[in-house]
Amino acid sequence: MKPDLLIIGEITPRMADRFAAAFTCHYLGEIKNTEQFLATDALSVEAIATTGHDGVPDDLLDGLPAVKIISNYGVGYDAINVDKAVSKNIIVTHTPDVLNEEVATTALMLLMAVSRELIVNDSYIRKGNWSKKGNTPLSRAVDGMSVGILGYGRIGQAIARKLEAFSCQISYHAQTVRPDSPHRYYNNLTRMADDVTALIVITPGGPSTYHLVNGDVIAALGPEGILINVARGSVVDENALIAALKQKRLGAAGLDVFAAEPHVPEVLFTMDNVVLTPHIGSATVETRRAMGDLTVDNLIQYFSDGQVITPIPECIHLTG
Ligand code: NAP
Ligand code: 8YV
Repeated sequence: MKPDLLIIGEITPRMADRFAAAFTCHYLGEIKNTEQFLATDALSVEAIATTGHDGVPDDLLDGLPAVKIISNYGVGYDAINVDKAVSKNIIVTHTPDVLNEEVATTALMLLMAVSRELIVNDSYIRKGNWSKKGNTPLSRAVDGMSVGILGYGRIGQAIARKLEAFSCQISYHAQTVRPDSPHRYYNNLTRMADDVTALIVITPGGPSTYHLVNGDVIAALGPEGILINVARGSVVDENALIAALKQKRLGAAGLDVFAAEPHVPEVLFTMDNVVLTPHIGSATVETRRAMGDLTVDNLIQYFSDGQVITPIPECIHLTG
């Protein structure tokens, strides 16, 4: 008998094939009447696969008392109510490490696109302006730039390693100092923002990091400063960011994540000093394949021997 799996959100065809081979699959998006589904199938669903965007709605989890494991397709699990899952002895797994390099590359791509004004320059040519108006203004160098990283975990350190190739002066802020790191630690985020040209945000989302990048941090970055956010929209005070960009109190921003995805404040569309991407930090064929495989493998292993490969830290005590 294959265990019943509820799948929430968008997955890849490879994940769908692998799930189909090992589980009886129910796709939430295809269920027309959730109440009826819960009335008939609630006791059979033992596992959930979801994405970092979708999480698991509280009322759905409450309606599925047989669930033992939630496998999250993504490293960030702020969309999942972890307290509720742990209180029900449900193991939550995620996909750390396999996406570090991709997300770090996305951060650097945004930093370069913003600094070298890639989008503005591209559109300048497409509008036929080069031959009519001559060259565009000079842009800013990433080589040697002073860059602060907010969040110095798996991805933050991958960003630092990549920035080293550009001879950047690298500093970081996290709650914990890493004594063996070659980079400068700041225990105060605003002070770091004051000292750097660019701030790259790569912490988890959720209440503990809500609006860490507030008006004061943005003001400290200043009119020449650059903010790159590849973490979660919730970490940055989006209204304060927009106000600072409008009033030229902040130089520029590169944003992969937003407060209310997929909705992005339209005022940002009008700003030349902003580069926007639709939460594509890990979105390559190669990296999503690795993430998808880990999402599936966590579930397969659980139903084969009760173990999982990558539990979230809050659930380690629930694993054998
Ligand atoms: P990680 O290894 O757990 O690192 C998180 C870092 O954030 C740690 O250095 C942690 O250090 C720091 N941090 C946590 N709370 C903090 C606070 N209140 N103040 C300052 N620093 C804090 O996580 P990761 O694997 O690098 O992933 C980080 C996040 O990136 C994910 O949770 C997700 O939200 C985001 N992400 C985005 C994309 C995308 O597509 N844009 C893709 C993948 C991941 P301390 O505990 O010492 O504070
Ligand atoms: C994905 C992410 O967009 O891993 C994360 O935390 O934000 C991204 O890799 C998302 O989780 C895919 O479901």
